[in-house]
Amino acid sequence: MARRLTQGERLVVASHNTGKLAEIAELLAPLGMEAVSAGELGLAEPDEPAPDFVGNARIKALAAATASGLPALADDSGFCLAALGGAPGVLSARWAGPGRDFGVAMARVNTELGDTADRRAWFVSVLCLAWPDGHTETFMGREPGQAVWPPRGGNGFGYDAMFVPTGASKTFGEMAAAEKNAQNHRSRAFAQLLASCFG
Ligand code: IMP
Repeated sequence: MARRLTQGERLVVASHNTGKLAEIAELLAPLGMEAVSAGELGLAEPDEPAPDFVGNARIKALAAATASGLPALADDSGFCLAALGGAPGVLSARWAGPGRDFGVAMARVNTELGDTADRRAWFVSVLCLAWPDGHTETFMGREPGQAVWPPRGGNGFGYDAMFVPTGASKTFGEMAAAEKNAQNHRSRAFAQLLASCFG
């Protein structure tokens, strides 16, 4: 049986990524949770050495829960290309280099795709809720679509400008926040979290 969260409880959002923080804040808003970010609490950003999204999400959530004494929610996510064997995947943030320049990261994806016709792409989000006693719950969401070049749109973050979800014609970068949040990997994972931990 999944552990529950109670409305009004304080929850640490274990991320330093402003794009993710904004999306998670919007998802939490209707729940009456008091969300505080890891940055606001002065928590360090842990390394992400795991080879998979679940492992890294657990590391981030447990580090924040242990350091703060509060339940913590972390997201580990990434952009995956079928023609690149799922890369950049867990290395999505690292492809942006030390300057965290996603223009550089998107250009690398485009270069590595070369002239391959296979543009199938997907985003993955693993959300992990961790409690200070070490208990964790994890949830995964996936959003399939196509990689496009050149990038389009200045909204969102990361690889949003080069991804068109299945059934849409706009990139995530061309969508308003509410439109992207209505259908994406993070909101799909969040819907599972809601059903399991708030029911
Ligand atoms: P990490 O979870 O901190 O390892 O970082 C994941 C990286 O994946 C982010 O820095 C983004 O580059 C990328 N990413 C994850 N989710 C999204 C999204 O919704 N849109 C665009 N890029 C994303």
